[in-house]
Amino acid sequence: MKILLFGKNGQVGWELQRSLAPLGEVVALDVSDRVMCGDLNDLAGIAKTIQTVAPDVIVNAAAHTAVDKAESEPEFAHTLNASAVEVMAQEAKRSGAWLVHYSTDYVFDGSGNQPRQETDATAPLSVYGKSKLAGEAAIIASGCKHLIFRTSWVYAARGGNFAKTMLKLAKERELLNVINDQIGAPTGADLLADVTAHAIRTALQSADVSGLYHLVAGGETSWHEYAKFVIEYARQNGVEIKVPVDAIKAVPTSAFPTPATRPLNSRLNTDKLKTTFNLQLPHWQIGVTRMLTEIL
Ligand SMILES: NC(=O)c1ccc[n+]([C@@H]2O[C@H](COP(=O)([O-])OP(=O)(O)OC[C@H]3O[C@@H](n4cnc5c(N)ncnc54)[C@H](OP(=O)(O)O)[C@@H]3O)[C@@H](O)[C@H]2O)c1
Repeated sequence: MKILLFGKNGQVGWELQRSLAPLGEVVALDVSDRVMCGDLNDLAGIAKTIQTVAPDVIVNAAAHTAVDKAESEPEFAHTLNASAVEVMAQEAKRSGAWLVHYSTDYVFDGSGNQPRQETDATAPLSVYGKSKLAGEAAIIASGCKHLIFRTSWVYAARGGNFAKTMLKLAKERELLNVINDQIGAPTGADLLADVTAHAIRTALQSADVSGLYHLVAGGETSWHEYAKFVIEYARQNGVEIKVPVDAIKAVPTSAFPTPATRPLNSRLNTDKLKTTFNLQLPHWQIGVTRMLTEIL
């Protein structure tokens, strides 16, 4: 079995290199790969790479993920998040390969307070969200065998993340303002990668699981509660924290204006994924605690 992985050095791509390894031979590429083209801005190059490798499964963890930057470069975001994905889908359809791809809660408008289902209407608020939705649509329209996982609030121990930023600020400041009206589930790149490997194994046995799935950790929280959880965990584990717990203040999204509008309700209903693949999704605090144990 051969797996072609795009975006090997991103948060999810890095963990996929580990989780996919037991399934077969993994050809892993990033944007600057010299032997084969892994640059999603080079559509002909991506097609050629897929034809050369002739994989059984294509896994795309590469994307334009700079949500605010995307507002000022919509064409580039569309090329990476939709046109390149369309090329992958067409190549997958032509060769009979599976295409595994990641999408986002940003395809929704974030209204209401119920967890969104896969069948709910989409209405992205940002260029990033629109480009990711176009990527999903291209895969579905191609008719290739696919697994699309919509996720949210991804973190990893490697590289920068929200928890690390909050810890840094908590050591330096006596007051912290954190948004409390966006609700979602922090989801570990390791969990995404592990579930992906399980799902691929199932998919190779039964093609009827082809489809779109919501995949996030269990439970829900706000950025404010997430920050408090991280900071208090660090304090209890001997890290010198300056900010008192009652000085971690809750503020609305409007207190931090950004070029891209974020959805307030990022809750995703994961029943379809859990039932189809017979999997459980652990509570977000389990994964975040594990990440904190690694970085502290
Ligand atoms: N992060 C989140 O909170 C979140 C939430 C929902 C969904 N998702 C989705 O989950 C997937 C994985 O995200 P992630 O968190 O792992 O993102 P990430 O850490 O930003 O990784 C994305 C990877 O894509 C690479 N990339 C950028 N431009 C490229 C190009 N032209 N060609 C090839 N690769 C390129 C990046 O390389 P450089 O670092 O060198 O630019 C990076 O390695 C994406 O589809 C994303 O849309 C993420």
